[in-house]
Amino acid sequence: MTLYSRITGTGSYLPPRRVSNDELAQELAGRGIETSNEWIVERTGIHARHFAADGVNSSDLALEACRHALEAAGRNAVEVDLIIVATSTPDMVFPSSAAILQHKLGIAGCPAFDVQAVCSGFVYALTVADAMVRTGAAKCALVVGAEVFSRILDFNDRTTCVLFGDGAGAVVLEASDTPGILASDLHADGSHVGILCVPGHVSGGQVLGTPLLHMDGQAVFKLAVRVLEEAARATLAKAGKTEADIDWLIPHQANIRIMQGTAKKLKLGLDKVVVTVHEHGNTSAASIPLALDAAVRGGQVRTGDTVMLEGVGGGFTWGAVLLNL
Ligand code: UT7
Repeated sequence: MTLYSRITGTGSYLPPRRVSNDELAQELAGRGIETSNEWIVERTGIHARHFAADGVNSSDLALEACRHALEAAGRNAVEVDLIIVATSTPDMVFPSSAAILQHKLGIAGCPAFDVQAVCSGFVYALTVADAMVRTGAAKCALVVGAEVFSRILDFNDRTTCVLFGDGAGAVVLEASDTPGILASDLHADGSHVGILCVPGHVSGGQVLGTPLLHMDGQAVFKLAVRVLEEAARATLAKAGKTEADIDWLIPHQANIRIMQGTAKKLKLGLDKVVVTVHEHGNTSAASIPLALDAAVRGGQVRTGDTVMLEGVGGGFTWGAVLLNL
């Protein structure tokens, strides 16, 4: 039995339409909603986000990210034997975006399913894929985070609509004799459902409730900084490592202040934190693989580095994965 799973390629994709804070502020002004580049930058670190065109779905963004990841890994889609897509904005109620993605990749037969853990989705999906690879259920998995959050934003709510964007990131995770994924730590606490949710559902051919994102930003902020520290420490302990072993921290890209707070608690310099929130906004389940791919392609994160991935979001869910790249 193979002992380990390892990331052998990364890829990502942003839809071409880049919307700066100024552009968004101007659009919102047309609705009578007041915001500014200064407020958004100061409170979040976000300068721009990307929005998908009408008719472009999560599986479309995922497809491009997967093509790049497969190319980086030197693999062909026919070699893929597992597809897991983390998303909260799937193409349809069902089937899964993973099944739709599989077809778009031109393959059939391997298991394909979605994971729904909102902004923690990618660390959940990676942990599931790691377990399946280590038990021999898969040898070459595509693990993807893909979102079109622009579809669930309330553009009359300035406290949330300026924060999120669309995009996808993917990794190829393969069976390996040398350690890649070292440890992970996942959690959920459904008692916090009300602070971050899209409280709508389909029933009898109609949408019941509000199918738009609702967030109590301050409550999420406080909880996020606490649980991100706890998850990182628990994951390090499971791997028999300490903060000093971390070469790079890649946290969920929601707010630069949350990332700074987490780094400080872990006694990590900001030069060890991968930051893409300024250009991507919060892309939920896509944010971590997008940031990982940007850091790999930008030459920051290199083969052999020890990397901590951390997610936190609706559910409430949170978790971390420690890996050797
Ligand atoms: O992906 C899941 C994880 N999500 C997160 O991690 C998000 C966590 N939360 C946050 O990042 C922050 O709480 C926010 C960025 C959402 C908000 O920042 P804040 O520093 O907590 O601001 P606030 O909610 O305390 O609002 C401060 C002021 C308020 O005005 P008053 O009451 O002081 O007069 C808001 O009405 O800023 C106002 N405000 C805005 N002003 C201009 C809120 N949104 C905006 C806006 N433009 N877009």
